[in-house]
Amino acid sequence: MANQRALARVDLGAVARNCERLKSALTGGADLCAVVKADGYGHGAGPCALAALRGGAGWLAVATAREAMQLRDEGIDARILVMGALTPEDAQLALQAEADVVAWREGFVRRLAEWAEGRHARVHVKLDTGMGRLGARDPEEVLRVADAVEDDDLLELAGLMTHFATADEIGDEHFPRQLERFTAFTERVKPDHPEAVVHAANSAATLREPASHFDLVRCGIAVYGLDPFNSDPAEHGLEPALSLSSYVGRAEHFEEGAGAGYGQTWHAGSPTWVGTLPIGYGDGWRRGLSNNADVLIGGRRRPLVGTVSMDNVTVDLGADPSAGGEPAMLIGPQGDERILCEEVAQRLGTINYEVTCGLSARVPRLYEQ
Ligand SMILES: Cc1ncc(COP(=O)(O)O)c(C=O)c1O
Repeated sequence: MANQRALARVDLGAVARNCERLKSALTGGADLCAVVKADGYGHGAGPCALAALRGGAGWLAVATAREAMQLRDEGIDARILVMGALTPEDAQLALQAEADVVAWREGFVRRLAEWAEGRHARVHVKLDTGMGRLGARDPEEVLRVADAVEDDDLLELAGLMTHFATADEIGDEHFPRQLERFTAFTERVKPDHPEAVVHAANSAATLREPASHFDLVRCGIAVYGLDPFNSDPAEHGLEPALSLSSYVGRAEHFEEGAGAGYGQTWHAGSPTWVGTLPIGYGDGWRRGLSNNADVLIGGRRRPLVGTVSMDNVTVDLGADPSAGGEPAMLIGPQGDERILCEEVAQRLGTINYEVTCGLSARVPRLYEQ
């Protein structure tokens, strides 16, 4: 394929296989909910949602009502859970999209029936077992919220949920405590509400602790073949779906001492060839990668040198002359080498989630089945 200045290829077959892999590890007949918020973690929500459903996911989850509506507009009719906090307008939109919503206050539940405008509304009640973000902390309050849902003919208690704060930190003590609190809560509530779907696990919990699977797991990062523990996805049988490529738009010989880029933060230590790739922080290839990343060119690792600018980066190609035009891989494999998204994240002092979510709309996504 002809070179493109910046291109994210998304392997939808990998998304489907990651879902199959996750599903095969679920215990007690639990179902898989693929989390496709934030445009499918930057991969493209609609195509990834369809691939996840093909791979066996029974549910989809998003953060916002608009994300749910976008999936409906793309013709997706699977069950969708909107996980975020909702304004009255958001709640109305979520219900118009026939999505499930999350509640943790009685007042919100009482108004939901109004916002539903005669529609049936499916509600998941959320216990904050230690994330400290959304949900009610007091189990008694969640029980009252569940009763308020049951009391209203238009509302259905569709789920009981929580969210883990530290499932990705192996050996920590917080995760088992959250799991214990939630398990005790569900043991109390489930007998009176047998139809409510119980769910808690994100990708890390799903891979790490079968006791967290309950009726449904909500996996995001692992669906895209990225490692929730920010290490190597292959350790969990996951295949990265996204690769990010560019090409050498200009190659130039640099004498010893010649500098590259804004601030001239790099100078050639000896005569070398420097390639300019037309990709930069305007594409989401962040400035923190200045003098701090490798790029694959000709199947070899080459250091990114100089400051990342909005539209370009420079790479030390070495002493051999370059004609320019060589394909460059910033995330993904080339020859026998590969650069994982997790490597990029570690260099930036962040997590893989932020790297793919940060790829801007300027980068075309090319979907491969
Ligand atoms: C409530 C909730 N559940 C599940 C997930 C999926 O998490 P992960 O991508 O780590 O699997 C998220 C994502 O942040 C979330 O906010």
